[in-house]
Amino acid sequence: MTRILTGIQSSGIPHLGNILGAIVPAINMSKNTENESLFFIADLHALTTIKNSEVIKKNTYSTAAAWLSFGFDANKNIFYRQSDISEVTELMWILNCFTPYPMLANAHSFKDKSNALSDVNSGLFTYPVLMAADILLYDANIVPVGKDQLQHLEMTRDIAGSFNHVMGETFIIPEAKTEERVMIIPGTDGHKMSKSYGNTINIFSEEKLLKKQVMQVVTDSIPVEEPKDPNQCNVFNIYKLLASDQEIKTMENNYRNGNYGYGHAKNTLLEIILNKFSNERKIYNELMANTNLIEEKLLEGSEKAKKIASSVLSRVKIKLGL
Ligand code: TRP
Repeated sequence: MTRILTGIQSSGIPHLGNILGAIVPAINMSKNTENESLFFIADLHALTTIKNSEVIKKNTYSTAAAWLSFGFDANKNIFYRQSDISEVTELMWILNCFTPYPMLANAHSFKDKSNALSDVNSGLFTYPVLMAADILLYDANIVPVGKDQLQHLEMTRDIAGSFNHVMGETFIIPEAKTEERVMIIPGTDGHKMSKSYGNTINIFSEEKLLKKQVMQVVTDSIPVEEPKDPNQCNVFNIYKLLASDQEIKTMENNYRNGNYGYGHAKNTLLEIILNKFSNERKIYNELMANTNLIEEKLLEGSEKAKKIASSVLSRVKIKLGL
């Protein structure tokens, strides 16, 4: 049994890019019966930048609802909220004492964030140590992450290694797993879809808003009558990710034949989003209207997570004479 663990940033409602690039591949991996997956919502990490209880709560719910709506099986796997397992902050303190200060000071993400943000708090600085605690507390073998998180994973391995070296074998050294062929999902302006670029398509929005986002996809000004190159068009490039081969061929031909405007293509894109994700939208809305159902799922997950966490933490404390 391989234990797979990953933390999910809860910085808002997951958009099409998050869904196709992260959520769907992770859920597919969790279906492998040889794997046990622990997925958690990293709300303590969110505190480094968000100081608003309503926003923190809402982000947790919408992130959880998105994962559940795409069929993440919270019974087979372990799905929980980071802050429900207080052992993680206790382990973090212990790991702090095994983490060289210069390692944190030289971290890329700390340098980037401390240059960009006005609130440079110590949580940003020790962010990688909390992440190490997240991973080591559950004896995780594999940690699927984006390329931007690889340095954090290296630090986790270093911290675990130096603990093991000083105190004797205690932690499993985890491996990072990045998708070889990282899927870049284009946003409405053709750049990588990202909340920070304001170019997202939010498939969970109500239809009117969703339509507005789809209509905002940037296109050129080639007149309706003229033939167009589908591959140069953002609408087509997003459509391609959702449509069947046959549907893709049809739209491709429409572009090349002329008398087919971007408005037509956008309507077809909107239609496919509404059809393809109608079930997920329904489940998402039901969950968001009954957040106690989400709480229930997270609570079940926390109970399972807590069992692992408390046994690993006591192993650590015994080693330390605490
Ligand atoms: N820092 C990760 C991100 O920004 C989220 C995260 C927190 C995480 N703790 C983790 C990922 C532990 C993997 C393992 O995406």
